[in-house]
Amino acid sequence: MTSRNPYRTLSGTSRLAGVMGWPVSHSKSPRLHGYWLAKYGIDGCYMPLPVEPENFQAALISLRNLGFSGVNVTIPQKEMAMPECDELSDRARRIGAVNTVTFAKDGRLLGDNTDGFGFLENLRQEAPDIAFASGPAVVLGAGGACRAVLVALLDEGCPEIRLANRTRKRAEDVAAEIKDPRIKVIDWPVAPDALDGASLVVNTTSLGMVGQPKLEIDLSGLPQTALVTDIVYAPLMTDLLVQAKARGNPIVDGLGMLLHQARPGFHRWFGIDPEVTQELRDFVLSPD
Ligand code: ATR
Repeated sequence: MTSRNPYRTLSGTSRLAGVMGWPVSHSKSPRLHGYWLAKYGIDGCYMPLPVEPENFQAALISLRNLGFSGVNVTIPQKEMAMPECDELSDRARRIGAVNTVTFAKDGRLLGDNTDGFGFLENLRQEAPDIAFASGPAVVLGAGGACRAVLVALLDEGCPEIRLANRTRKRAEDVAAEIKDPRIKVIDWPVAPDALDGASLVVNTTSLGMVGQPKLEIDLSGLPQTALVTDIVYAPLMTDLLVQAKARGNPIVDGLGMLLHQARPGFHRWFGIDPEVTQELRDFVLSPD
C-alpha cells in the first residue's frame, strides 16, 4: 500500500495508539510503529504517552474515551494494567503482566501479553530450524522478562527448563506460580553444570546490558549445537553472544523480540500484520 499523503497528515478518522510508561522517553516503540505506519501508508498515529504511575488508571480510561484503538504498556505499568482489563488473554494471565491493551468497540479493555510471542517469533525467524521440543532449555534470570519466556517455551513443548537466578527464592516463586513440573530451579553458581545436554540457553537477566556488569558464565559444558539467545539488545552483541559465537554455537540477538512483540498490537489497531525486516532493524537502531 502506498500513501497518497506525502505530508503524513492525520485525517478525522485516524487510528490512534501509543505506549504508556514512566519514563517512556527511552522506548523504541514510537519509532517502530511509526516506521510501519509510513511503510504501509496507514492513516494513523502512535505516540509516546508518559504517564506517572498514580495517574495510570485514569489515563488508560481517558485514552479509551478519546477513541484510541489501543496502547502498549511498559515498565512499571505492566502489572498495573492487569486489574484494569475487562478481559485477559490466557497468556497474559499466566505471565502475570499485560503489555498490549486493545479498546474494544463496546468499550471493554482487552489485555494481552505478546512478549513470549515476540521471543518465539524472533527465534523462528532467525533460526528457522529451531525445535523447541527437542531438548532442555536453560533460562537465566527470574525478573519480569523471564515469565514470558518460560510460558512461551512450555507452550512450545519444551521438555525441561532449568531456571537459575542469583536470588533463588525469586526463581522458586516464579516456578510455583507457573506450576509446571518441567521447570527445575537450580542454584545460580552451578548454572554452568546445567548446560550439559541443553539445546537452548536464554539470558533474561539485565547482565550484559549497557551500564550493567557482564554475564560471566563458563559455556564449556554446552553442546555446540545449542542455540544461545539474549533478551538484552543494547548492545546487540552481548558478551554472552560473543562468547557463544566464538565457540561455534548458533546465536540470536534480542532486538527481534522487541520488534516481533509489537506485531499483534499493530495488527489489531491498524489492521495489518507487519513485517520485521533488516531495514526495520537498522532503522530502530539508528540514532537519528
Ligand atoms: P525486569 O523485571 O526488567 O526483568 P528485574 O526484575 O530487575 O528486571 O530482573 C533483573 C534480573 O537480572 C533478575 O533476574 C536479577 O536477579 P535477582 O532476582 O537476583 O535480582 C538479574 N540480575 C541483575 N543483576 C544481576 C547480577 N549482578 N548478577 C546476577 N543476576 C543479576
